[in-house]
Amino acid sequence: MADQTIYRASTTAPVNIAVIKYWGKRDAKLNLPTNSSLSVTLSQADLCTTTTASCSASYTTADSLLLNSAPQTLETPRTQACLKALRSQRAALEEANSNLPKLSTFPLRIVSVNNFPTAAGLASSAAGFAALIRAIANLYELPANPSDLSIIARQGSGSACRSLFGGYVAWQAGEKADGSDSLAVEVAPASHWPEMRAVILVASALKKDVGSTEGMQLTVKTSTLFPLRANTIVPQRMEEMKKAIASKNFEDFARITMQDSNGFHATCLDTYPPTFYMNDTSRAAVRAVEAINRAAGKDVAAYTFDAGPNAVIYYLAENEGLVAGLFKSFLSHIDGWQVRRGQAIQASSATPLDESIAS
Ligand code: DP6
Repeated sequence: MADQTIYRASTTAPVNIAVIKYWGKRDAKLNLPTNSSLSVTLSQADLCTTTTASCSASYTTADSLLLNSAPQTLETPRTQACLKALRSQRAALEEANSNLPKLSTFPLRIVSVNNFPTAAGLASSAAGFAALIRAIANLYELPANPSDLSIIARQGSGSACRSLFGGYVAWQAGEKADGSDSLAVEVAPASHWPEMRAVILVASALKKDVGSTEGMQLTVKTSTLFPLRANTIVPQRMEEMKKAIASKNFEDFARITMQDSNGFHATCLDTYPPTFYMNDTSRAAVRAVEAINRAAGKDVAAYTFDAGPNAVIYYLAENEGLVAGLFKSFLSHIDGWQVRRGQAIQASSATPLDESIAS
């Protein structure tokens, strides 16, 4: 009879929202980006994925994944690339130490729960893949640091590589053809600028029309603005943004964030046929931020939009009343808005909730 032992590990991974956007792949198979990107990790209390991975010789069915109680396929090339990388790292450990149980050969059961709408431009794939990769890495007791794991997570979904760190995180595009230098690094821990806050305005919790992968590939193929963005504008902004974060200069942080969101959505409009992620409600949010900043006499709020209509507004705690309060009343006449508040804090990679391997 097969060994009945069930090995299990759990983790949570937070959502990150880019202030310099990833949009475009130079290698779709390895999921290598055309440009570097930079994000802020949000508090797990508001938006996170919780994942438990288990494996056992006694499991008789193939690998399986439940997301919010619904079965999901693991049979996509990207997910398979992640599972293969994790299993081969575990197999190397097992080869080096014959006392280790052969977990790499056991079927996996993965159970994930998102506490926010899936695929609505709220970076669900980022938290989802980051949690999946870390849960299995913990289950397999891989001696990997977050940057090592980010190389695997990137192959699942590009933005996921940034969710392995808390605080301010850069995904370095890298130059190597095999993608071994395309990974996430910490720019600054959350404790460096703990006053940072984010409010998320959910304009629609519906699934987006054009997924990120498809949308960015069409942009790379057809947009004439895109090469300028990827090759010239973004590299400059990455440096300026790192300086703004290092010196805690919110006005620079805000301006670059808004310009980069606008520039990214301009390339979507320049895609042929055009992709529209922002809608009338999103544009009302832009105008509301402008009104708040005009009233304050300086930039105290910054909007950014991913591949969907929802706005994320960054601001500092000292301006909570000015931004979050005013924002709510400004938009209260628009139906369909919900307001969620998040604090940018350290991700669980620093304070893991992992269970150790059960025996
Ligand atoms: C607009 O990471 O979802 O949110 O690598 O194809 O899975 P894939 O794309 P994904 O794209 C995210 C795009 C973005 C910008 C960003 O998060 O940097």
